[in-house]
Amino acid sequence: PEQQAHLQEEVAAELKRQNAVLVAHYYTDPIIQALAESTGGCVADSLEMARFGSNHPAQTLVVAGVRFMGETAKILSPEKRILMPTLEATCSLDLGCPVEDFSSFCDAHPERTVVVYANTSAAVKARADWVVTSSCALEIVESLMDNGEKLIWAPDKHLGRYVQKETGADMLLWEGACIVHEEFKSKQLADMKSVYPDAAILVHPESPESVIELADAVGSTSQLIKAAQTLPNSTFIVATDRGIFYKMQQLCPDKQFIEAPTAGNGASCRSCAHCPWMAMNTLERVLECLRKGSNEVSVDPALIPRAIKPLERMLKFTS
Ligand code: 13P
Ligand code: SF4
Repeated sequence: PEQQAHLQEEVAAELKRQNAVLVAHYYTDPIIQALAESTGGCVADSLEMARFGSNHPAQTLVVAGVRFMGETAKILSPEKRILMPTLEATCSLDLGCPVEDFSSFCDAHPERTVVVYANTSAAVKARADWVVTSSCALEIVESLMDNGEKLIWAPDKHLGRYVQKETGADMLLWEGACIVHEEFKSKQLADMKSVYPDAAILVHPESPESVIELADAVGSTSQLIKAAQTLPNSTFIVATDRGIFYKMQQLCPDKQFIEAPTAGNGASCRSCAHCPWMAMNTLERVLECLRKGSNEVSVDPALIPRAIKPLERMLKFTS
């Protein structure tokens, strides 16, 4: 702990010295989230990370999260220097949607509006009409549907199915999944609920349909945090990455948060749901990238003018 405190001080001093700001996702290590908060940066969901980074005047952003979050920051602010604790932190949704295959899929359905999740590469975003995150997917798809548009949706099939079910939109779904959320199991979750009958179940919509069906609230990370604050229950079973417990516990110190069970671990599972790529963001690496100016995010400049359009459309729609 002493060493961690020392590292935190060093990062804070380096951020100040370089006029840089730390932007972290709710799934990162609580130490990083706390540091982002105490140094004037932000801890947020993927939508608000994008908005904060593009609105902030700092010329250097340190993005603690996964690759697509750093790329999104770069696309929205090409003139800024975007550093990441590691450039190796990817996402199974991004990996499962290579641009060549995705482009052929879009070419085969030229009459459809292309909606992609933020968890994609810059090249895939450049092929899209809209980018959405879990926070705004329902609203944006509803408005496109009201416009009579038929959609292509990629890459998350579970979120896609959820949006389709809620809105009734005509959507062709790509077959991607999040390796973390896909592990939540409805059978074990129902068993856990019988142990905690008064608990509310909170579920991120990247989870399978049978898990979503058991939820009292479904939503993005920020929406689940809001639900923890507003629902009257004192106990919550939470089906998303355990990094979120830091903010939930901070905002609701008197409530109890329990991790939803994942495959094979039954009700005794503690800490199974954690994104291996989010976990690569360590305090040591935050300091190192700042000190050395290493792990700077670069995006092919030829892609930026096309990739920025669907991102700006999303930010405008949600502002
Ligand atoms: P949010 O947009 O809800 O923060 O989700 C991002 C993500 O990667 C979830 O796994
Ligand atoms: Fe991707 Fe899932 Fe990790 Fe989020 S939790 S970054 S969707 S692999």
